[in-house]
Amino acid sequence: MALIAPSLLSADFTQLGRECREVLDAGASMLHFDVMDGHFVPNISVGVPVLASLAKKTPAVYDVHLMISHPLAYARQFIEAGADYLVFHYEAEDDPAAVLQRIQELGAKPGMAIKPATPAEALKPYLSSLSMALVMAVEPGFGGQAFQPGALEKIAWLKKYREEAGLSYLIEVDGGIDPATARAVLEAGADVLVAGSAVFLSRDRAEAIRALQAESQKA
Ligand code: DX5
Ligand code: ZN
Repeated sequence: MALIAPSLLSADFTQLGRECREVLDAGASMLHFDVMDGHFVPNISVGVPVLASLAKKTPAVYDVHLMISHPLAYARQFIEAGADYLVFHYEAEDDPAAVLQRIQELGAKPGMAIKPATPAEALKPYLSSLSMALVMAVEPGFGGQAFQPGALEKIAWLKKYREEAGLSYLIEVDGGIDPATARAVLEAGADVLVAGSAVFLSRDRAEAIRALQAESQKA
């Protein structure tokens, strides 16, 4: 069954702990924590202090998605704050190999993300070091956008390459995921579904998570 990672970007930030416990009780496998710096993406979200207080009170697997220009400078703070997976963008300004090495030294699981215009093959030199490969199905920066089907062939390529190379990274897809788009990404080979608005903007979060999981049983 697919792993569901609700994106906290669409949660009620005044009730963050409660919102997280609700989705965890409903079967979410991890919490997707979106960090935006107003430079790499034209939006600002939350950062280290929010992750630290959340992780202290709400034990969970934290999947931290850094949409920031300089992940190297901030890796340590996010890992000390509780990031389990620390995912940075291929398109960020730092040398990916240096960021990967830093994350590994600090004991977190490294992940790399690609924007819609970046081919999956760009990740090839790094895949043997990755715990997570994140395919963005929207331009990073905002929740609630429409799924871009160009993500599908990247997911399929990452799955095929993982088999051929004998690797074990998880394939995660982020952006526009709901029960209607989930089937195709699962059939293409995604392991982790990030869903923000489809979970937190629905009246019944448990039902929303079940609906996504149901698609993975059909795929
Ligand atoms: C967008 C973020 C996503 C976003 C997904 O830049 O990385 O995680 O919250 O939101 P939905 O599921 O609403 O597309
Ligand atoms: Zn994200």
